[in-house]
Amino acid sequence: MTAVLSSPVASPFVPGYIPALADVVGADERVPLLDGSSVRYANFDYAASAPALRSVADRLLDALPQYASVHRGAGALSQITTHRYEQARERIRRFVRARADDHVVFTRNTTDSINLLAHCLGKRGDVVVLDIEHHANLLPWQCLSGTRLVTACSTVEDTLAALDAELASNPAALLAITAASNVTGEVLPISRLASIAHRHGARILVDAAQLVAHQPISVVSHGIDYLVFSGHKLYAPFGAGVLVGRGDWLDGASPYLAGGGASAEVASGGTVQWHTGPARHEAGSPNVLGAVSIADACESLSVIGFEAIGYHEHTLRERLDAGLAAIDGVRPLRIFSDSTGRVGIAGFAVDGLSARTVACYLSDHHGIGVRDGRFCAHPLLTRLGYPDGAVRASFGLGTAADDIDRLLNALSELVSRRDTARVKESLG
Ligand SMILES: Cc1ncc(COP(=O)(O)O)c(C=O)c1O
Repeated sequence: MTAVLSSPVASPFVPGYIPALADVVGADERVPLLDGSSVRYANFDYAASAPALRSVADRLLDALPQYASVHRGAGALSQITTHRYEQARERIRRFVRARADDHVVFTRNTTDSINLLAHCLGKRGDVVVLDIEHHANLLPWQCLSGTRLVTACSTVEDTLAALDAELASNPAALLAITAASNVTGEVLPISRLASIAHRHGARILVDAAQLVAHQPISVVSHGIDYLVFSGHKLYAPFGAGVLVGRGDWLDGASPYLAGGGASAEVASGGTVQWHTGPARHEAGSPNVLGAVSIADACESLSVIGFEAIGYHEHTLRERLDAGLAAIDGVRPLRIFSDSTGRVGIAGFAVDGLSARTVACYLSDHHGIGVRDGRFCAHPLLTRLGYPDGAVRASFGLGTAADDIDRLLNALSELVSRRDTARVKESLG
């Protein structure tokens, strides 16, 4: 039977023009302010969870009438659903340019994907990680005995040299590294990191949670062994994530989850023959719609085009950076003095005000949603000099220049009233 799969809508590419396909759900949502009025919500928290692309949400609704059990039933809708689920792997494989024999395993999110690989590592050797990582790429490794933490230097170049020296002095099985910092948005040179890892006999895991919606990534040409990311940061907030990568470690490990779907044969005496391939680690009923939505989001982003996305985000980032630099006492966060690329993330602190005060002011008085705190990157925030936290404004396809101006105007207003805000802060 032929499954019904809608094909992506073709869109004329015009540099700098973001087509309607990039519309996000909730763009016109209004939120209440403290003075009793309401205003259109300005979402500056894309790095935590991006809104759904309308094209993704529409396709999810289109798929719902045909939604049925996956991998289980012989019925027509079960076959369609199973086909959609398995096709989603291939569509994601194409999007990230993975090898034909890579496994594409569906998980709950990036954290789950990294924990899955940590489970599969076994006794193959040590893991090297930088201290700038999100906890998702720190704690699963720290639970293992052979994890070596390398302190990032003030330049990318010195950091690469430090990693090179670490791997040269003591072999490791894996270098686990972020593609883009969730605190500063700075992008790391993945191909060079992969070369360093491979030169010393290690594999590389790339945490692309913050990169994959913003810049093209190619498992093959970047030389990536394992790539992980989450649907909810990729405009597909329906609860799924992915691990793409080499099959040998995955097939060589015991199932991450034991249960139906992962087992090929269970003898009455209890002996189990486990599947190889993605099914080995996907026991239980999978999140079919979440997985298919990730594939839909990948295709929508491909149609919009990373050139257009890059132009859009670059324009907004320049506007935001220039505006922040012009506000007295706003301190941008940076890890490296020589980083060249950034995604749509601006981490900053405001002299004399706690991050919480800034975030609450922006929300209560202007309907602007930013993130405050330590962004699940406590070691990095401490090293950057903000152990109590900072503010992060992150943006993407649904963000307009007008949103950036609203944020900048609101921050300027807050800074001009800093003394009043501090009195309120001290009163709790
Ligand atoms: C760089 C990075 N890695 C991993 C994660 C964890 O992602 P998730 O919460 O989807 O598991 C995040 C989340 O913010 C992140 O920014």
